[in-house]
Amino acid sequence: MMIYMILAEDLQCLKAIALLGGCRGSVWVSSQTLGRSLDISPQTASRRLISLERQTLISRAIRPDGQYITVTNLGEAELKREYAEYMRIFNGDRKRFVLTGNVISGLGEGRYYMSVPGYRQQFQDKLGFAPFPGTLNLRLNPQSIETRKRLDTIEWIDIQGFNAENRTFGDARCLPCRIAGHPCAIVLPTRSHYPEDIVEIIAETGLRDALGLQDGDSVEVEIGYD
Ligand code: CDP
Repeated sequence: MMIYMILAEDLQCLKAIALLGGCRGSVWVSSQTLGRSLDISPQTASRRLISLERQTLISRAIRPDGQYITVTNLGEAELKREYAEYMRIFNGDRKRFVLTGNVISGLGEGRYYMSVPGYRQQFQDKLGFAPFPGTLNLRLNPQSIETRKRLDTIEWIDIQGFNAENRTFGDARCLPCRIAGHPCAIVLPTRSHYPEDIVEIIAETGLRDALGLQDGDSVEVEIGYD
């Protein structure tokens, strides 16, 4: 049985050829330009090409004006394997995240921000609901703090800052989610430093009333995306 492992530097070179169009057909490649793009000498680039050819990851045709290179099916499969690994890193295998935290009281600022028309209108347009005036603050459990960090790799909705009432309202971002079936969103100011163990939730409904929540109660926030 042959255990086959492509070297990292060969893979990088293969990717550079694919970026030139080598998966779609033959592309003209010189050791000089390839070397420059990979920050290696032409001699090293040339050695990598020989190595890739030997592993049948590329095929080469030498013509009077230089060499023409095609990424083979095997080469393409190798790149796809790498791609799948990045997909796993950034998307996770799961399509669903759950955060668990306890209800806490804040400083009463949520009520003010959620009443500012410049924000309200954007939430209405981008989330499909006008928020209840306030944010439900949750303190995340330690495991959820880790899950929360992974949420930075998925796409959030941008809320643009603006000037009104003689002051500046900053950019924010939000992420649709659900609590006990109620459509909600996590909101986060973009610029200011924010504690990693707190999330602020907005919803059309007053969640304390709807779910009978009090400080200290545990809540599950479901984030799902496809
Ligand atoms: O900052 P603080 O927790 O004092 O409150 P706030 O953001 O001004 O929100 C007013 C109240 O409504 C708080 O008790 C929130 O927990 C609550 N709230 C709620 O029940 N449902 C929401 N969708 C938003 C806030």
